[in-house]
Amino acid sequence: MRWLALWLCLGTCSSCSGAQSALDPAGEEARQIADLFWLMAIAGGFIWLTVIGLLVHATRHERTPIDERIASRLIFWGGAAIPSLLLFLLLGYALWLMPGLRPFARAGEANGLRIEVTGEQFWWRVAYHLADGGVPILSANEIRLPVGERVEFLLKSTDVIHSFWIPALGGKMDMIPGRVNRLSLATKPGTYRGPCAEYCGTSHALMTFTAVAMQPAAFREWLSVRANPSPGASLPGRDIFLRNGCGACHRVAGTQAEGGVGPDLSHMGSRGTIGAGVLPTDDEAVRSFIAHPHLIKPGSKMPDFNMLPQQDIAEIASWLKGLE
Ligand code: CUA
Repeated sequence: MRWLALWLCLGTCSSCSGAQSALDPAGEEARQIADLFWLMAIAGGFIWLTVIGLLVHATRHERTPIDERIASRLIFWGGAAIPSLLLFLLLGYALWLMPGLRPFARAGEANGLRIEVTGEQFWWRVAYHLADGGVPILSANEIRLPVGERVEFLLKSTDVIHSFWIPALGGKMDMIPGRVNRLSLATKPGTYRGPCAEYCGTSHALMTFTAVAMQPAAFREWLSVRANPSPGASLPGRDIFLRNGCGACHRVAGTQAEGGVGPDLSHMGSRGTIGAGVLPTDDEAVRSFIAHPHLIKPGSKMPDFNMLPQQDIAEIASWLKGLE
């Protein structure tokens, strides 16, 4: 039994770090939330231990009649005054933190870069709006951020309510159809994982994204590469992709594929995962996704393309994977 308890404790500790842990903060907002968590956990633990200690004390000692005045004082202080004071202090601290976590509070500090993220069933549409007001740079399921610079997120949804959350960087913000919610975040270098934090349908649990924080110079360089269409080498896969109508739903910058229904596939090969975090970007995974998206991602809008010859699927996969 003791070993089981120890094992369970160690199991909980293992989630205290990593790419998707609110307890391993990499941004100012996440640090404040983690501080609040630890304060609440320590205060709660202390109160629990005190109550359990008193309980054990009460069961072990011989009961002698207690003076009524002392009993009333005990009830007043232990039962009403001290708990109220503790709750008041904890609530006060939480309220004091709130202004800094509110959507607009730090928007003024944003450096002009706004990243529009739209929740879709079951992936993330991403558009970078630069300060110069030029054409937005489109992407999907991966967000790149400049280290140390505050970025403003514009969060939307087109179908149902999703929720945007990068636990290591800050709090959650719902994505609600018909409105734009705002969140501003700054980050340390690293790669973080963000889940969808609101049940949105069959593949809700398969809706994640990666946030990669890069040094500002590397980030600008990355943006400038994205701003210039790269049709990829003229491989047979490109013609097969276009011939089979994939471009009606997907966009690949620099080709006739201009569809906006599914994820933007320009530079797909440079992303670490496909299907919004479901599989690694390797040949086999891309081939299986094209052939049977419903087996990998139940409820997705993409039809199965298993009727295509295996060779054609392999050619499309190798072209897409080469789009870096
Ligand atoms: Cu999107 Cu849950």
